[in-house]
Amino acid sequence: MRILLTTTSFQDTPGRHHDLLKNSGFEVVTARGPLHETQMLELIRKDGDAGGFDGLLNGDDAITAKVIDVALPRLKVIAKYGIGLDSIDVKYATSRKLPVLFTPGVNHTTVAEHTFGLMIAAAKHFWPHLRSVKGGGWKRITGSELAGKTIAVLGVGRIGKEVVKRAIAFDMTPIGYDCHWDAAFAAQQHGLKHAATIDDAIENADFVSLHMSLADDDRGMVNKAFIDKLKKGAVIINTARGGLVNEADVAEACRSGRLGGYAADVLDVEPQKVPHVFQDIDNIIVTPHVGSRTFESVERQALRAVTNIVEFLKGGKDFIQANPF
Ligand SMILES: NC(=O)c1ccc[n+]([C@@H]2O[C@H](COP(=O)([O-])OP(=O)(O)OC[C@H]3O[C@@H](n4cnc5c(N)ncnc54)[C@H](O)[C@@H]3O)[C@@H](O)[C@H]2O)c1
Repeated sequence: MRILLTTTSFQDTPGRHHDLLKNSGFEVVTARGPLHETQMLELIRKDGDAGGFDGLLNGDDAITAKVIDVALPRLKVIAKYGIGLDSIDVKYATSRKLPVLFTPGVNHTTVAEHTFGLMIAAAKHFWPHLRSVKGGGWKRITGSELAGKTIAVLGVGRIGKEVVKRAIAFDMTPIGYDCHWDAAFAAQQHGLKHAATIDDAIENADFVSLHMSLADDDRGMVNKAFIDKLKKGAVIINTARGGLVNEADVAEACRSGRLGGYAADVLDVEPQKVPHVFQDIDNIIVTPHVGSRTFESVERQALRAVTNIVEFLKGGKDFIQANPF
């Protein structure tokens, strides 16, 4: 069996996942993702009839219908290292009876911690402060507490739930919106309010934190119209997907002070294309999609992804399929 491994956090982080993959006996070809469509096509076509892959162990690479067509009939499985499947044409894979495996439940605590890191950094102006001190200065800007503030959590799934728990610990008032509301979870979290609509969730929010998956309908949902419904000075945190946000509208609102700030771990196009509209705006901070990149989380996620692909290709049962058919 020959597989293509493109995720860099898997490759760059030591851990037991390397042994597990080595012991599979598969031939492993590595590349540094995220790869766009042309790069994927080049790799798959590289060795002609002698090439191609039985499985993809991928991160956020573009696995489009065209990539799938070229990779078939040899390709037997797509094993996503992660939970977000928006860079894979899952609908097309399903129509070609190609299983897409994924790794739910391995990185929610890590991403929730990152969310709070970004929230505190935005509320207390870490970026201009750090830049000032590193440059020999001592510039001081007054920040805001999280305690007593309302946080709208949009998408109360695995990560959103962990954010709710931490918000309560910070003495914040969480108000959640999810198209599949988990009433049992909400009942355990004293103080989690349920909003019937996104508008209800955001209207009194001091912080809005995005934790939903990206679907075509949600693309660019955080735009001028959305921002106009927020309190002046509200701060948006996005550790979900860059595509949920209209970046030009967010940049304009942060520049004008309509928004207090935007703190994200994700961009619409990654790695960023420079110049980027966010680059010179001090109340916008972006980390390079490292929300789930901790030693603990990478190993959990990588072990799950390797188990998925090895079990699937060897005829076992211990794999998690996102598109059962
Ligand atoms: N920054 C990172 O490194 C990183 C790591 C993992 C996941 N993510 C992203 O974080 C997000 C959440 O991941 P998760 O593991 O919690 O996923 P999840 O599937 O457990 O939860 C997503 C939740 O969003 C809800 N949802 C989907 N569309 C919605 C909509 N239009 N309105 C309201 N709710 C909606 C779903 O019902 C679900 O409860 C995803 O976008 C994922 O891609 C980012």
